[in-house]
Amino acid sequence: MRLFCYRQNLYHHGKSASMYLSREEELIYQGHRGESLRRAMEILVALGDIFDAHRLIPVKSVQIAGVSFKNIGEAGLEWISDLKGKVIVPSILNPAGMDLSRWKDMGIDKDFAHKQEATIDAYRRLGIIIDCTCTPYQINQKIARSGDHLAWSESSAVSYANSVIGARTNREGGPSALAASLIGKTPFYGYHLDQNRIPTHKIDVEADLKGSDFGALGFLVGGMVKDGIPIFKLPGRPTPDELKSLGAAMAASGSVALYYVEEVTPTPPEEPGKLEKISVERKKIDEVYERHPGMDADIVALGCPHCSKAELDRIAELLEGKKVKKELWVCTARKIAEGCPDLVTRIEKSGAKVICDTCMVVSPASERYRKMMVNSGKALAYIPGLCGIEAGFGSTEECIETATRRD
Ligand code: F3S
Repeated sequence: MRLFCYRQNLYHHGKSASMYLSREEELIYQGHRGESLRRAMEILVALGDIFDAHRLIPVKSVQIAGVSFKNIGEAGLEWISDLKGKVIVPSILNPAGMDLSRWKDMGIDKDFAHKQEATIDAYRRLGIIIDCTCTPYQINQKIARSGDHLAWSESSAVSYANSVIGARTNREGGPSALAASLIGKTPFYGYHLDQNRIPTHKIDVEADLKGSDFGALGFLVGGMVKDGIPIFKLPGRPTPDELKSLGAAMAASGSVALYYVEEVTPTPPEEPGKLEKISVERKKIDEVYERHPGMDADIVALGCPHCSKAELDRIAELLEGKKVKKELWVCTARKIAEGCPDLVTRIEKSGAKVICDTCMVVSPASERYRKMMVNSGKALAYIPGLCGIEAGFGSTEECIETATRRD
């Protein structure tokens, strides 16, 4: 096929180091639609050239990382604040560095809070929806449907979109996601293409799992398959929250962005060839708990990824009639919390805090503690490196027991 590439003013035949741009895309690239769009297009074109994409494709939604001021700092805030214009596809944010309304309760200092608010204001001016969550699919099912192309950033959200919803997204960096939201497109490469969605590993799980066991399984398997695409054979049928936990942990201990579960998730686009085989027995899952005890933690945090309503329900049930003896954070999306005020009240009656807009990993508030107990394989993988404190792992029941036990 013969295509015209405006950017280089050349005709190309087949594969080229340059992406083909439509006339409008080329005008944006040359700066005829303003400096902000030019910068956005420059990012997309550079990315497309690196990964040998032939063209841009429209995206249905964007999820933007680079929201916590802890991660982006002054340089990031300046970069976002300089951008002009409005996003042209539904765009949502990743968790920020604090609960946007009760940051004082988290022990966040004023300077950080003001910088975080300035960051959120800069995103708001661009027309981005100020929902700060890694589980956008829990608050708006229309944001991603099977077969949609997306430009999402946060690794657990990317995994869920690709694997459970059957949408297609690469793991975008903050700037490339923001660029996609302004242009409404992303380069066509990676997980957008069938040939990059074929399983590489077969994981036989010979154990009945529930709840946080899926985080432990993901923690193990991510470390083994790295950036591979595992297909699981499980004895039971995991819930959506268990799949969320599995994918999040594999994305953190490895860099898995897509997985399959036989007879549960959407199927691969074509039959895989020879697969590397891995078996996981109960003993291996138990070892994740044994190697990371959490009973001596001075804070407990649940909700990585952000809690669903069903998870809040279970936590409220476990806390019934109890009082916390140490800090207990329950992280969720603001819209989820607002949708079930009775559950929030029941949880907070114990002294626990339902924290919105942020999480235990991206908030600097975690750094004031010595050791955090979590029920999440992803948080277990990230907390030591990103918060500089120890992490312990347990089931939701064990986490509540630790938070409410008198030492
Ligand atoms: Fe979400 Fe924070 Fe965990 S962004 S997946 S709760 S590390």
